[in-house]
Amino acid sequence: MPVPTKKKLCVSVPKREGERVRKELKELDLLDESYGIEERRGRLYIPFKGEADELRYDLEPCALKPRLRPLRKRLGIRYDVIGDIAIIDWFDGILAAATELLETRRDIKVVLAAVSGVGGQYRLKDLVFVAGERRTETVHKEYGSRLRVDVAGVYFSPRLATERHRIAELAQSRETVVDMFAGVGPFTILLAKKVKKGIAFEKNPKAFRCLKKNIELNRLHNVEACSGDAKDLAPKFIGAADRVIMNLPHSAFDFLYDAVTMLSESGGFVHYYDVEPENEFPRTIERIKEAVGRFDRTVEGTCLKKVRSYAPRQYHVVLDIKISPR
Ligand SMILES: C[S@@+](CC[C@H](N)C(=O)[O-])C[C@H]1O[C@@H](n2cnc3c(N)ncnc32)[C@H](O)[C@@H]1O
Repeated sequence: MPVPTKKKLCVSVPKREGERVRKELKELDLLDESYGIEERRGRLYIPFKGEADELRYDLEPCALKPRLRPLRKRLGIRYDVIGDIAIIDWFDGILAAATELLETRRDIKVVLAAVSGVGGQYRLKDLVFVAGERRTETVHKEYGSRLRVDVAGVYFSPRLATERHRIAELAQSRETVVDMFAGVGPFTILLAKKVKKGIAFEKNPKAFRCLKKNIELNRLHNVEACSGDAKDLAPKFIGAADRVIMNLPHSAFDFLYDAVTMLSESGGFVHYYDVEPENEFPRTIERIKEAVGRFDRTVEGTCLKKVRSYAPRQYHVVLDIKISPR
């Protein structure tokens, strides 16, 4: 259902004068900002409010679309945009919201609803189709990487983009980096553009297929992608890594030994992700220091950061751990 237009009195000017006139109307408080500006045959129609005789410009009626405040602000809806697919948590009235989203954001072609939280070993959400084109595949752009994502069969969160960029900034060109839970490869791809070698593990066959495509799509020749369980794959890379990424909140602790044994003899960094309440942070740091000590290595330093808020009083956190030989 398209957003209905309304006939409005407008100032009609040649396009080249549009910006100057818009500014002037705004300064005089004569610009009706609740409507968009329309362009037709080289002229702009700028919505006008106030007394017509205050004005020295031509006035003409024109059908304009109301300018809607973003859904996020109006209805308090949060949604993720992955490529050209928007994913909204299910709520009554989602169809109207989805239609409006398709009308007002030209970059969105598909709207899906999440009807569950993230769950299962592959960290998936249950999604249902709401509006737009019937597909679940898209290409997402992030910090210069192109990522093919099939949102129905893989985990991917655009909300971690800044965190991925932070890790890429920390990495050095001589490094080998292991991404133990790579998904479609957003960490791996970004890092592989900078470092000597990337090694990516992924257990979900659908995510692994996207990962392989993404390595090709980004023309990378320094990534070794391994399909399977990180527990089985890690022993093949003992001592190979300078940096290990462990983005598997809730379960990463079970793989800490595997991560540490993959670090080179001179040590390196582990980026350990989890979901926790704030009052648990000190205990997590102690638990990890103690565990690493048992693996005959020393924790030289730790830095715990909130990545984003996850649920009430729960945070997605990252612990950067610098590990050296004993
Ligand atoms: C939270 S997602 C992170 C994906 C990716 N790093 C990202 O930032 O988008 C965790 C990924 O690990 C994969 N996974 C879960 N258990 C695994 C295991 N034991 N070994 C390898 N991959 C695993 C899941 O399929 C999922 O793609």
